[in-house]
Amino acid sequence: MKGVILAGGKGTRLYPLTKATNKILLPVYNKPMVYYPIETLVKAGVRDIIIVCAKEHAGNFINLLGSGKGLGAKIEYTVQEEPKGIAHALALAEDFVDGDGVMLNLGDNILFDDLSGYVRGFDDGAMVFLKRVRDGRNFGVPVFEGKRIVRIEEKPSNPKSSYAVTGLYIYDGSVFDKIRRMRPSKRGELEITDLNNMYIKEGRLNYGFLKGPWSDAGTFEGLFETARMVRERYTKSIRRSGH
Ligand code: TTP
Repeated sequence: MKGVILAGGKGTRLYPLTKATNKILLPVYNKPMVYYPIETLVKAGVRDIIIVCAKEHAGNFINLLGSGKGLGAKIEYTVQEEPKGIAHALALAEDFVDGDGVMLNLGDNILFDDLSGYVRGFDDGAMVFLKRVRDGRNFGVPVFEGKRIVRIEEKPSNPKSSYAVTGLYIYDGSVFDKIRRMRPSKRGELEITDLNNMYIKEGRLNYGFLKGPWSDAGTFEGLFETARMVRERYTKSIRRSGH
């Protein structure tokens, strides 16, 4: 399985922090944000990774990460000329993925679960990872009939479940044909929720639950909370190792 990390996008909700740099390069406690999705993929056993970034920041990503060797990964890079949506950014990885399965991690979604079992067990279709949230109005929210997800609603004013679809997904090789069939949404983007709903229509969307913490670092509050979450884990691990 291949890995894709998205680092395109404008990060407007974090202005002015993201006026001169990319969101995924911002510090999260003691590391640049992009380290966390790389660590998530590597822990899952996914070491061949491509980072999709905007052209003005590509050089910074290469300076920071190089070949990926220092992080136990093999990293390539590609440029998204314009931020035309998450599914659009994923499509740019088609040649790199080359018919394999692909694990997609949005660069600003930080989590610590070990997903290697899901990667080993993945066969076909798609997989989303859910986390219980207090207020789903800013997320994609799954609608259940029994245990089955019948659709995902994007930023619903009246969420039909208390779960959010997190920014981590696994897709089979059919994903790129699906993206070719997509049309831009009202805001002009190829939406990841529309893509996931295509899998639901085919009856091929599975889901798992994240056990550990999850955070979307794309807002000021989210960025602050993510740093707090990372700091807590870091100080616990230092205490455990006796340093
Ligand atoms: P978003 O947070 O939805 O978008 P954004 O990063 O542009 O931020 P804002 O809404 O504040 O302007 O993006 C989620 C992730 O997907 C983030 O890691 C950036 C990435 N992304 C792309 O790579 N290309 C895109 O076209 C978009 C929209 C997002």
